[in-house]
Amino acid sequence: MKKRLSLFLLAMMLFISACSMVDSDKEKQENDNDTDAFVETLLKELTLAEKVGQMLQAEEKYITPQEVRDYNIGSILSGGGSHPHAYDDDVDTWYQMVKSYQEAALNSSSQIPLLYGTDAVHGHNNVYGATIFPHNINLGMANDQALMKAIGEATAREMKSTGIHWNFAPALSVVDDIRWGRSYEGFSENPEIHEHLTAAYIEGLQKHNVVATAKHFIADGGTDGGVDQGNVLLDETTIRKRHLPPFITAIDAGVDSVMISFSAIQGEKMHGSYAWITEVLKEELGFEGIVLSDWNAIHQLDGQFYQQLVTSINAGIDMLMLPQDWKDAHGLIINAVNNNDIAESRIDDAVYRILSIKYKNQLFESPFHRLAPEDNFATATHKTLALEAAAQSFVLLENHGVLPLSGTENIYLTGPAHDHVGYLSGGWTMHWQGTQDARLGTGSSILEAFSAHLKNESGQLVDRYQDADIVMVVFTEVPYTEWQGDTNNPSLFNGLAHPDNEAAYQEALEAKAEGKTVIGIIASGRPLLLEDTEETFDALVAIFLPGSEGGPALSSVLYGDRDFKGALSFAWPKTQSYFQDKTDSTTILYPYGYGLSYDED
Ligand code: GLC
Repeated sequence: MKKRLSLFLLAMMLFISACSMVDSDKEKQENDNDTDAFVETLLKELTLAEKVGQMLQAEEKYITPQEVRDYNIGSILSGGGSHPHAYDDDVDTWYQMVKSYQEAALNSSSQIPLLYGTDAVHGHNNVYGATIFPHNINLGMANDQALMKAIGEATAREMKSTGIHWNFAPALSVVDDIRWGRSYEGFSENPEIHEHLTAAYIEGLQKHNVVATAKHFIADGGTDGGVDQGNVLLDETTIRKRHLPPFITAIDAGVDSVMISFSAIQGEKMHGSYAWITEVLKEELGFEGIVLSDWNAIHQLDGQFYQQLVTSINAGIDMLMLPQDWKDAHGLIINAVNNNDIAESRIDDAVYRILSIKYKNQLFESPFHRLAPEDNFATATHKTLALEAAAQSFVLLENHGVLPLSGTENIYLTGPAHDHVGYLSGGWTMHWQGTQDARLGTGSSILEAFSAHLKNESGQLVDRYQDADIVMVVFTEVPYTEWQGDTNNPSLFNGLAHPDNEAAYQEALEAKAEGKTVIGIIASGRPLLLEDTEETFDALVAIFLPGSEGGPALSSVLYGDRDFKGALSFAWPKTQSYFQDKTDSTTILYPYGYGLSYDED
């Protein structure tokens, strides 16, 4: 108890002295000095076992508060789709869970608070009722810094409503091949968009002392054939030109952590790369935050667990995301230090970084900090922001005198995603692989939004195309995450396309033959091969994965309350041969940067 009081008092004294500074540069220097003073003092007092505990991140389902206390665990995560008890747990249940682990950490021998992390990659997406923002692919199409900063801050507020401090976001994947299942987690194929958006999101997120994570270092989106966790064949010059700039931007923006990629470069797994992690990331770029491994990724390294730990920690990894086998790791790392396979100075560097980020984010002063849910979770302001972001991300691909709608038209809405919020949200939503649930406890479907709009108009929604002026077909891919989204044929009717797309298209063809106007809406995690269907559509809109407010956003744009603003941040391929030669313009249907708007018509 005595040590904790002195720790707390020391932290408060340093924090108050830092707050009194006025000049930002001087303030930063003073803050850094205070951090150094605090961390150096604390580090000296820790045993090797306590230090090793700080380097471990367990998944919540595989550790108890007592074990957090016994092993001085530095961090816990709730992985994709992990909930305290059930998917519809409320924010108080989440906060009580985080608090129970934090209490245990403060009662450990080191009394060091833990960092609780999760993938809030498009809002606090594991938590029932949270605002589900558009995925990064949408945000790349909108390409708006103010939106990114506001989304970062809103996400931090919703996370802090549950007391969670660490977001494994933003993904800074520069996507070389849209056959990759994680394409939608990237802003673009062009790193210039990442450079434009990254700092704003990180500043927004870290404004409320939520640790941001630049991931996955490096070239996760550059693997051969877009294979998730695959092998990058690019040379170093190309990697530095295309895949490094977003991380430079993130580090300049003060990002607190970097997550390492599962992928390999020329056969070397990133989790074992001293050259990229220590020589480039830490020494050349000067990154001083936490380098975090990905989920059990070190097990893809050569050798047994002991060797994998030695290789990855010596390569420069500071904290190990070992959801289940954190306990074995604890003993093995201590053995490795005692065997001189890992220098204690490397352990000290890792723990120094971890303690510095905890101190910087006021974990020692306010380990139980929480923002009031009523003012910060799923607020009207956040919903409006999500709607705005979605609306700005939509891309108008074709418009032959059909849009904007007047409100007088009778509309037949069809297709698998016409009344489904889950499909509009994609992966990392409520569950790791997303959800087949049509409702999320937040947001509105396209049908609900159009129905609401037409309450004040003469037009109606009708139940069969024969009674309609306009047939609007909403196609979709099924939700997917990580390697489960990899496909050699990203297409409207194949690959991860929803099985009902084909039937919906056939019905649209019948309607077209009977003189109906046909609008196509495509909800997807990437551009899709349209298989020569584009001529069928009198208007065609790409909405990608707009999130819980995608329905109201689409209604707002199609009825002309807003104009289209989105521009393709990925080239839209016409044929499979695009994947063999991306420079051949005849293989591209809509080029990078393409997007129509009403005022152009
Ligand atoms: C996953 C992902 C990573 C995520 C982590 C924790 O495997 O690669 O992006 O942050 O595990 O859920």
